[in-house]
Amino acid sequence: MTATLPRLQRLAHPDFTRDLDATTEELHALLDLAADVKSHPDHYKAALAGKSLALLFEKPSLRTRVTFELAIQQLGGFAILNEGRIGIREPLKDVARNLDRWVSGIVARTYTQKTVDDLALWASVPVVNALSDLWHPCQALADMQTIREHFGDPRGLKLAFVGDGNNVASSLLLNSTRLGIRFSIATPNGYALPSDIVGMAPATAEIVVTNDPAAAVQGAHVIYTDVWTSMGEEHEAAERLAAFKGFQVNDELFVHAAPEAIFMHCLPAHRGEEVTDAVMESSRSVVFDEAENRLHAQKALLLMLLSGGESRS
Ligand code: CP
Ligand code: NVA
Repeated sequence: MTATLPRLQRLAHPDFTRDLDATTEELHALLDLAADVKSHPDHYKAALAGKSLALLFEKPSLRTRVTFELAIQQLGGFAILNEGRIGIREPLKDVARNLDRWVSGIVARTYTQKTVDDLALWASVPVVNALSDLWHPCQALADMQTIREHFGDPRGLKLAFVGDGNNVASSLLLNSTRLGIRFSIATPNGYALPSDIVGMAPATAEIVVTNDPAAAVQGAHVIYTDVWTSMGEEHEAAERLAAFKGFQVNDELFVHAAPEAIFMHCLPAHRGEEVTDAVMESSRSVVFDEAENRLHAQKALLLMLLSGGESRS
């Protein structure tokens, strides 16, 4: 039986190299589509038939790599993985223009945002940021999907991020505030979110920036954390371990949150550092829902980047 897909909205921007490549209206549409894809995966099984993705990974990955491979495959397309630094063996602009001739899109996990931006500059096919030093926009899409599933309309909720003002925190800031979520962040001195990134949030956003984890999580509906040392910062690990003392998410911190508060983490988690094993394993923890939603949210993203309103079967 053949059914016709509702015409899929295309992102106005040709790439998804950063969160703001999707407008707020497109973000809402993408999350609606992600929910439909999750409920009715079979409706979309041929939506990207014949399309292909090159997955370029400079850094390790479990979730992002597996979910992008599965997403394109379950939409009727296929993926090719290439690991290693981009632009070492040959100039990045040549890599981009080779891939252009073969694939429908490029997904790249890179050490620097400049590498993703340069790929987008030189490739004519869509380029997706699968994590850079500055952003993790695909993670934030899955996280927003998870919050919507758990709470319904997220407007007025409070999300508290405790830890490093890193790529994951930056993407969460821009996505949560654009959905009307109040955002607070507690970081040690020297590890705050860059002020230019805070300045990218909507003017109406409610944002609290503090060094006090208990103040940040006061009344929060979501407590979120991430590793203290991100990929590429391993040489700072010992210094960071000392600096982040007191920023662990544990049962004592949850006392300050709303009674119905949930725990979120992009994973991988370092139990005993940024979060306790007890919180990770508690009924508050939705970390595996987030991981599952990477698949559905990225399917929606690929549909909005690559599809041409094709019919489904
Ligand atoms: N959350 C996340 O991006 O996980 P991976 O590093 O395993 O892809
Ligand atoms: N901030 C972490 C996220 C890993 C998914 C990193 O960049 O390593």
